[in-house]
Amino acid sequence: MRTAVFSSKSYDEEFFTLANVDQAHEFTFLAARLDETTVDLARDHQAVCVFVNDVVNRAVLDRLAAHGVKHIALRCAGYNNVDLKHAKSLGFSIVRVPAYSPHAVAEHAVAMLLALNRHLHKAYNRVREGNFELRGLLGFDLHGKTVTVVGTGKIGAIFATIMRGFGCRILAVDMYRNPDVEKLGATYLSLEEALPQSEVVSLHCPLTPETRHLIDEDKLPLLKPGMLLVNTGRGALVDTPALIEGLKRGIIGGLALDVYEEEEKLFFTDHSGEVITDDVFMRLTTFPNVLITGHQAFFTHEALMGIATTTLGNLTALERDGVCANAV
Ligand code: NAI
Repeated sequence: MRTAVFSSKSYDEEFFTLANVDQAHEFTFLAARLDETTVDLARDHQAVCVFVNDVVNRAVLDRLAAHGVKHIALRCAGYNNVDLKHAKSLGFSIVRVPAYSPHAVAEHAVAMLLALNRHLHKAYNRVREGNFELRGLLGFDLHGKTVTVVGTGKIGAIFATIMRGFGCRILAVDMYRNPDVEKLGATYLSLEEALPQSEVVSLHCPLTPETRHLIDEDKLPLLKPGMLLVNTGRGALVDTPALIEGLKRGIIGGLALDVYEEEEKLFFTDHSGEVITDDVFMRLTTFPNVLITGHQAFFTHEALMGIATTTLGNLTALERDGVCANAV
């Protein structure tokens, strides 16, 4: 199938080419992000392959349909960037990669938590400059602390398992109980019940209208002062200006973000020679207790191979059978 791969990086090309062993698919790798201004690049393709920050809104879908594109293959799990209702009304088939390596994301969340708690981002720079002062690097033992996991699906369950291994008490927030998480001795509570008890809160639920700004100004009084918040889910799960307020007031003792609500204007691209005009983002970077990575939680060898293999399998299924088990 001829597929236009938008927002493509060298590593996408490398892993898609590796997975395309029998040359069953023809890919056009495009650096451009899909939006209203780039959609015409999909002309003469039967499918588009898109990532987290590609824009698949009504206007883009109408143009894709006019170009005869039939399939939208997401090379990620989340699909909050697709106007699903409109896509379905136009007859598109939409497929995704429901799980590639949940370990990759859960392990990154743990890495961020450890770095934030023990100030590794500061220690690294200090030592390079010959400064071996410990003041400002004080952390706390995770052992015995309470960790709330919001969303106990594939990633949240692995994160909970790792944190249980550290000797943490696990609280879980989800409308569906995961037996694997219950086996860890986790207690399911509402978010409002869990927050006041937790030294650490990690977000692993999808972005939906219900979870948008799940942590906002109203939740600040419920947080245990000095708590650490980790978000590797989606940027809009938190209201960033409210978090800045929480950091200024010392309610949030540390913040680790792999995702950001306005990330599509920044992430996955080198802006180091430019003036970044997003004042909210730049304010975040001024806090010593904020650690940000640019949506890299998924970025492991295993995950990229899984994404490529599943995406090619999805396209093959659509081409051969017209249906796919990973349809959205
Ligand atoms: P999953 O579908 O296995 O689990 C999500 C869980 O969240 C489910 O158990 C669901 O019931 C729960 N949930 C839904 N609404 C909720 C709510 N209002 N409150 C509490 N729980 C709720 O998904 P998976 O694979 O664990 O991924 C979770 C999220 O992680 C994805 O939706 C995606 O946004 C994000 N992600 C981030 C990546 C990164 O590189 N930073 C990579 C992959 C996923």
